[in-house]
Amino acid sequence: MNETRRAILERIAEGPVSGPDLADELEISRAAVWKHIEGLRDAEFEIESGSSGYELVSADAYNGPAIEYELEAPFSVEYHDSVANTNELARERAVDGATNLAVLADEQTGGRGRLEREWSSPPGGVWVSLVTRPAIAPSQAPLYTLAAAVSATRVAREAGVDARIKWPNDVVIPEGEDGDYRKLAGVLTEMEGETDRIEWLVVGIGINANVDADVLPEEATSVREEAGDVDRRRFVQRLIEEFDRLRGTVDEIVPAWRELTLTLGQRVRVDRPAGEVVGEAVNVTESGALVVETEDGRETVSAGDCEHL
Ligand code: BTN
Repeated sequence: MNETRRAILERIAEGPVSGPDLADELEISRAAVWKHIEGLRDAEFEIESGSSGYELVSADAYNGPAIEYELEAPFSVEYHDSVANTNELARERAVDGATNLAVLADEQTGGRGRLEREWSSPPGGVWVSLVTRPAIAPSQAPLYTLAAAVSATRVAREAGVDARIKWPNDVVIPEGEDGDYRKLAGVLTEMEGETDRIEWLVVGIGINANVDADVLPEEATSVREEAGDVDRRRFVQRLIEEFDRLRGTVDEIVPAWRELTLTLGQRVRVDRPAGEVVGEAVNVTESGALVVETEDGRETVSAGDCEHL
């Protein structure tokens, strides 16, 4: 968000301020103050203008400027009511040089999950793709995917949902005692780079937030279904803030993931191109690979589709 607009918002959030006082404090013209106030109103900030001046009444819209305002992370937010797919758009922005950008939509008409599966994305969900340019080797990229899963799980838990992680990055709600679950959120990471360097990374996160469960696939659930609707603006802010914090403390990611997972201790089947692995999930390595105790010994699986048996 433009720095002057942010300064105006912060000032009028404290209480009413007259146009001339704002102009003096920010060293801009009165006409410029008026123009910024109109711009902020267009961005759905509710601003009252009474006899003592302008006052911010509410900033709770679900759009780019409202999410950027009070966001405690260095991300800008590009919001769309409806797009085909936020990952696609984020990839385009990344190719154009963007970084620290969240591309967000209320609805996706062509949402995609892992393994090219369709990802149902009706209005009311949180469909967001984060563009970053981390100074890490491509082999470390899975850590960012785990960080996204941890972030989504934490914010869902803050919303009162018993969210857990199924390896590698599905956010699920446990059902019963035997490892059954319903899916609440997923992460799809895409990247461009060379063998030793990542050019850009797009971390797509989809959370079934304020969505009726009956418009989702049968095995899915939503925050609305489990705990009631969330304030999506605050929810997305928290998601981005958690992700931003974790990417700055990479050593915390795997321990946080371990604390939240439902997979360790489960009997699992992991499908991967080299064949399936069946056994007990006993550990996760520092790079996020799953260690499975099979009949023939331990296997470390770095990627695949995991099912709890
Ligand atoms: C999965 O569990 O299969 C991953 C789902 C990822 C969905 C998100 S929603 C935002 C971004 N846009 C997409 O089309 N996919 C990701």
